[in-house]
Amino acid sequence: MNNSYDLIVIGAGPGGYVAAIKAAQLGMKVACVEKRETLGGTCLNVGCIPSKALLESSERYSEITRHAADHGIKTGKVTLNLATMLKRKDGVVDGLTKGIEGLFKKNKIDWLKGEGRITGKGEVTVGKTSHKTKNILIATGSDVMPLPGVKIDEKRIVSSTGALCLAEVPKKLIVIGGGYIGLEMGSVWQRLGAEVEVVEFLDRITPGMDGEVAKQFQRILEKQGFTFRLGTKVTGAKATDKDVTLTVEPAKGGKGESLKADVVLVSIGRKPYTEGLGLEKVGIKLDERGRIPVDKHFRASAEGVYAIGDVIAGPMLAHKAEEEGIAAVEIMAGQAGHVNYDAIPGVVYTWPEVASVGKTEEQLKEEKIAYIAGKFPFMANSRGRAVGDTDGFVKILADKETDKVYGVHIIGPDAGTLIAEAVLALEYGASSEDIARTCHAHPTLNEAVKEAALAVFFKPIHI
Ligand code: FAD
Ligand code: NAI
Repeated sequence: MNNSYDLIVIGAGPGGYVAAIKAAQLGMKVACVEKRETLGGTCLNVGCIPSKALLESSERYSEITRHAADHGIKTGKVTLNLATMLKRKDGVVDGLTKGIEGLFKKNKIDWLKGEGRITGKGEVTVGKTSHKTKNILIATGSDVMPLPGVKIDEKRIVSSTGALCLAEVPKKLIVIGGGYIGLEMGSVWQRLGAEVEVVEFLDRITPGMDGEVAKQFQRILEKQGFTFRLGTKVTGAKATDKDVTLTVEPAKGGKGESLKADVVLVSIGRKPYTEGLGLEKVGIKLDERGRIPVDKHFRASAEGVYAIGDVIAGPMLAHKAEEEGIAAVEIMAGQAGHVNYDAIPGVVYTWPEVASVGKTEEQLKEEKIAYIAGKFPFMANSRGRAVGDTDGFVKILADKETDKVYGVHIIGPDAGTLIAEAVLALEYGASSEDIARTCHAHPTLNEAVKEAALAVFFKPIHI
């Protein structure tokens, strides 16, 4: 038996490491168990950060190769050094994961290196050493969802992890699943020269996103060169050293066919990760989707055990995991931790970006809530015109009677940054009139948000 802690966190992703730091700040004696060689979890190592590094590099490349001439910039032959691009991405990851190590030291958090398992009430064992603790916080995250008949080898048939380090640009990339990963990683390789085809089971991309936004998103991606095969089921895949043959058929039944690609990316979702955790030791049973059930205070069914992040219900997003981590340790410390699930933004970091918070039109209709939609296109936004990014629009949905904002959906340049004011508006229960009467600097892309709000409660000026 070793050290005694107030809290042992299992998993050092954005949920776990943020919770550990917050708990230390609140005066707890904290340890965090992580089996990876580096801290930061999926997000920093193989998720948010490396994908955004590559999205940035590939966007710069495509700006030069596809758009520089529009601005009167004449370039010579532009060449791609993929190895350098990938090395830069690794450097960003390295710097940030080491940064978390530094934060652990600063906050006197013990990193217990290895796989943690719960071996009894208030006991976590790592390797051969058992540690006593008052509270356990499970933050073990998620893993790639496998697709039966399509064996991932991370060379020809890759998950997001393999797609972050392809040694060369594939001539043809088939993406299975038109969601966050497929469209972001598809964009990276499409910008670098790959022909990208998305095979999606449903008859639309990005399920859960506002339908009108999703349609526009698909159109814009098609304009960039993506092709989509919707309503299509993948029935098998065969990889050789050189390529992959994928067999597909219509989701609703019908004649199948085979498709060839250099690389296939499997991105059909992620599943909660609880392997080897010893949950059975403390009587915790998983729900039908393999998640750990928790109450509103993030308490699992065993005393002193909490869970947050991708391993529990809700959107699998880093900032959602962080908010839950903070709230869970505040609750452990006797404070009033809370997460407002109605105001969690989601952003797809393609170009243009797609960002949303709150309810979609489909949800409002389903819930029979009377609403007004106000829309404003970036085509009529002066900054959008000046920078040459005019695709997309802002849509604000507000209550027909009270004008309270229910949802904001943006497809357009820097939508991921623009959504912040909408999140704040929802958090504070603002009306569309509140947004419309707030002074927005000129000329900014944010003015499109103000104009969409004007479109709800009165009339936009510039259209
Ligand atoms: P994780 O980050 O998965 O961390 C869990 C950690 O626990 C892992 O490091 C794992 O090694 C460790 N672990 C598991 N079991 C044990 C054990 N028994 N003992 C010790 N350690 C253990 N989200 C966004 O919000 N924005 C984005 O831009 C974004 N981009 C993404 C891009 C990709 C390619 C992927 C795959 C995901 C992306 N996500 C993004 C999702 C985001 O990464 C996750 O929602 C987030 O990492 C979840 O955090 P977490 O702390 O719950 O778990
Ligand atoms: P996803 O849930 O976003 O999309 C999966 C897509 O695959 C859906 O459109 C679904 O209909 C489709 N699909 C499911 N089964 C299929 C099948 N058998 N054949 C064809 N299509 C199928 O999942 P994705 O893209 O794998 O990402 C996992 C999670 O990681 C996301 O849900 C998100 O929470 C997180 N993420 C977040 C990012 C961000 O915030 N920018 C970026 C990347 C990932």
